[in-house]
Amino acid sequence: MDSIHVHGGVSLQGNVRIQGSKNAALPVLAATILTKETNVIHNCPKIADVYKMLQLLTSIGCFVNWEGDGVRVDSSHVNLNKMPAEAITEMRSSLFLVGTLLGQTGEIVMDRPGGCVIGERTIDLHIFALEKMGVSFFESEAYIHAVARNLHGADIFLEFPSVGATENIILAAVMAEGTTVIENAAREPEVVALCQYLKQCGAWIEGEGSSRISITGGQRLYGSDFAIPADRVVAGTYLFAALGTRGSVLLEDAPSEQMEAVISLAEEMGAECQQETCGLYVQASEGLQLPQRIMTEPYPGFPTDLQSVALACMTGIEGICIMEEKIFENRFRIVEYLRKMGADITTISESAVRVNGGSPLQGCTVEAKELRGGAALIIAALMAEGETQVQGCHFIYRGYENICRDLRELGARIYSVYK
Ligand code: EPZ
Repeated sequence: MDSIHVHGGVSLQGNVRIQGSKNAALPVLAATILTKETNVIHNCPKIADVYKMLQLLTSIGCFVNWEGDGVRVDSSHVNLNKMPAEAITEMRSSLFLVGTLLGQTGEIVMDRPGGCVIGERTIDLHIFALEKMGVSFFESEAYIHAVARNLHGADIFLEFPSVGATENIILAAVMAEGTTVIENAAREPEVVALCQYLKQCGAWIEGEGSSRISITGGQRLYGSDFAIPADRVVAGTYLFAALGTRGSVLLEDAPSEQMEAVISLAEEMGAECQQETCGLYVQASEGLQLPQRIMTEPYPGFPTDLQSVALACMTGIEGICIMEEKIFENRFRIVEYLRKMGADITTISESAVRVNGGSPLQGCTVEAKELRGGAALIIAALMAEGETQVQGCHFIYRGYENICRDLRELGARIYSVYK
């Protein structure tokens, strides 16, 4: 099993460039199908989930090749055959192809994307919304068969501002007849990036970034060049790594304007955060204090994707903090490993833990079970005394281009071992 080895105890210092956003790149790459032309997606992160999405696009007839920091996707010969099952079930983002392909051919059959360790990851909101747009689903446990003989606009209220459901609706609505209005839409920056790309291609969309998004379908969409914004979750990961090791780092290209909840938490803890033109400068002070409570919320609240990362950081800071996870039902998988390293964490309920911070962490062998939990274990390893071996790091490669390279640039003693 691949592993990452860390000799902890180094205070991170220096500059690191933040990669393009995984969660913006995936829906944008799916959306290139809608243009049936050539697109160049710049600043596309070179990560496993992007490679999987490109494999899916290739499997339905797209021509894909990397050019420098970007990827050229020619979707003029898309033949919309069935996609490789293994790529679908392993990656939830294949769901974006439902909305996209329904707009193109009116039918899609694909293996049902699975849940994962952080939660069941149901798709009831996707189905509810697309059915309102005239899609018929012939569901089974194993696969999704969707047919839309007449895909039309609709007024859709999402009972939860699901990011994926909002993106899927938008991808279907740009091809549907008439206007679709999404109420209680997700406001995440990744939804905004998708809308900006589609508008650049010629789509008529208003309200992205607010809870009400309106899409008028039927416009011809033209291929275009688009730059993926920097990844706010990767930037937040390295911010908490700096706090946990009492360092001072410059996060080049960090999208500070998308990180308000994270920055205000860091400042509440006593860190100094300076928004520079080239990025975000973060300096931990010796007297960092834990906040009383952190609760994950839909954007612009504190992001669930940084919950594990913040939890790891908190274990090394004096004070008591209640961490509440309100988005996913099982996102405290790393607690057992943090405890193994010496952290004092009490489970309050399925959705809340109490950190009694300040106890020193000791290096040992731990195992990543999912992407952001894996990144959090790396942070705990940076803070720990001695050597930590993080196994299961293929999960980390799904979302971080090269976490070892990035952290080495900040002075960390970290390397990967491939078996
Ligand atoms: C996106 O997942 C992100 N993934 C996730 O990032 C992120 O954690 C999540 O949004 C929340 O911000 C991508 O963008 C590829 P949701 P998504 O639909 O779209 C429930 C990472 O680490 N729900 O907003 O799947 C769902 O079970 C990943 O980069 C339903 O109940 O998130 C969850 O509890 C992890 N029914 C909650 O909503 C549905 O039909 C949030 O899900 C859809 C979702």
